[in-house]
Amino acid sequence: MDRLAVVEQLRQQAYLGGGKDRIEAQHRRGKLTARERLQLLLDEGSFEEIDLFVRHHSTEFGLDKRRPLGDGVVTGVGKIDGRTVCVFSQDFTVFGGSLSEAHARKICKIMDLAMKIGAPMIGLNDSGGARIQEGVVSLGGYADIFLRNTLASGVIPQISVILGPCAGGAVYSPAITDFIFMVRGTSYMFVTGPNVVKTVTHEEVTFEELGGADTHATKSGVAHVVADDEVTCLRQVRALLRYLPSNNADPLPTLPTRDRPDRESPLLDFIVPDHPGKPYDMKQVIYEVVDEGEFFEIQPDFAPNIITGFATLDGKPIGIVANQPMVLAGVLDIHSSTKAARFVRFCDAFNIPLVVFVDVPGFMPGTDQEWGGIIRHGAKLLYAFCEATVPKVTVITRKAYGGAYDVMNSKHIRGDFNFAWPTAEIAVMGAKGAVEILFRKEIAAAEDPEQRMKELEAEYTERFCNPFKAAEYGYIDDIIAPRRTRPFLIRALRVLETKVDHNPRKKHGNIPL
Ligand code: HXC
Repeated sequence: MDRLAVVEQLRQQAYLGGGKDRIEAQHRRGKLTARERLQLLLDEGSFEEIDLFVRHHSTEFGLDKRRPLGDGVVTGVGKIDGRTVCVFSQDFTVFGGSLSEAHARKICKIMDLAMKIGAPMIGLNDSGGARIQEGVVSLGGYADIFLRNTLASGVIPQISVILGPCAGGAVYSPAITDFIFMVRGTSYMFVTGPNVVKTVTHEEVTFEELGGADTHATKSGVAHVVADDEVTCLRQVRALLRYLPSNNADPLPTLPTRDRPDRESPLLDFIVPDHPGKPYDMKQVIYEVVDEGEFFEIQPDFAPNIITGFATLDGKPIGIVANQPMVLAGVLDIHSSTKAARFVRFCDAFNIPLVVFVDVPGFMPGTDQEWGGIIRHGAKLLYAFCEATVPKVTVITRKAYGGAYDVMNSKHIRGDFNFAWPTAEIAVMGAKGAVEILFRKEIAAAEDPEQRMKELEAEYTERFCNPFKAAEYGYIDDIIAPRRTRPFLIRALRVLETKVDHNPRKKHGNIPL
């Protein structure tokens, strides 16, 4: 038989993975196959597969008689919106997508290529974990991947899409990558499954409760984006990629827009309520300011008191960090600090300018927070903003109190342009707290303590709860009309396009982990 015909025959065999029955079983579970997923993820006809002919060389447990082509993972390069990406897609129909030595070598090979060519690495995970029959060799394979994930961190964007089981040590590869996508109902991640949990802690918990998409999107913060089905999930991966450069040395992509750079938003002049205790939706501010109101939010359901995500201004990607007064008054707590810190570090690593909207009453008080380590977790966000050398622009819309003022990309930690709306209140603390400390004796001695307290609060508010003191010191570069926020930000970012800033030479810093 002609060799090319043999090749074609083998290809067709490989395309069937674990066979028709297992493909049907996969579909019955509401899951797509490894190849169907790649078709949805990548530009049509762009996928170039490598290592289709790889087979394992194990002999234990009769494996020498089952040596499927590809060994349970499809790897190669493709395009997303015309830009090259490297991918692997685990095939659950072959040994449950379990990771053997050969399977791991394929993943490592494509990761090495991604690093050499400077392309994002996207992993579609659907695997029963370590190939049990191969034992420690399979564990070694995982470690080889973990090492590559770590070395690639900050060099190429790494995205993990969890589309089935991801359990045990296997979770640590996605955990090191930049973004984790999950699908409700079909994907789960945990270090130990419900059975082990029951034996050890006597808790009864389902797969979905323990490590499903919603759990990781709301409780643990492990997942960054969650979708109802695989098709939507893979579309969202494509959508995220639009904002990211291919690697840390490449220029940012441009997203053409018809939104005018000088467009004003009259609505913003009225968005901050008269009463400082009243909330308003910071997302509305974001939608008004960014190009065409398009905002790709990261971790929308985890620590929603802080907002993180990508958008463009004048067609150029930015990373947004914003306090959300609608949730817990926008306070900084453990989860919101770590969520934002990781996001800031991603943006800094990939040269994506940061735009920060501030309305923060301070750090969250309480034993929960103190014993949970708000000191070291809050420090992560401070550290992340301090070390970031990308263009950094801040807009204080209302409160910027205490340490949280410093943390939220203040001038002092290398904010390049710091703007305030006239409604800004920049002070050590709010009027009530300040007056109680400063005038305790005077209030107690007053004829009408309540009335005196009110007077003193009003006086303090008038003197300190405004942007003027900070502007006097140059901590605020300008006080701007809220409606003009978009034009101001765009002009600031244009000025900063040539910004160069460095940190001192070091092996690496020691972020408070
Ligand atoms: C080899 C495996 C496998 C594995 C599944 N299969 N997991 N083969 N090694 N780890 C095979 C099954 O034998 C079966 O083969 C096929 O995949 C489909 O599996 P099913 O059990 O029929 O599917 P389902 O009912 O959907 O259950 C999926 C599952 C279950 C929940 C993932 O298969 C399972 O619990 N697997 C073992 C998970 C596990 O304990 N892995 C090791 C974790 S420790 P046939 O031929 O019948 O179709 C680990 C350490 C990593 O991963 C450490 C890194 C540092």
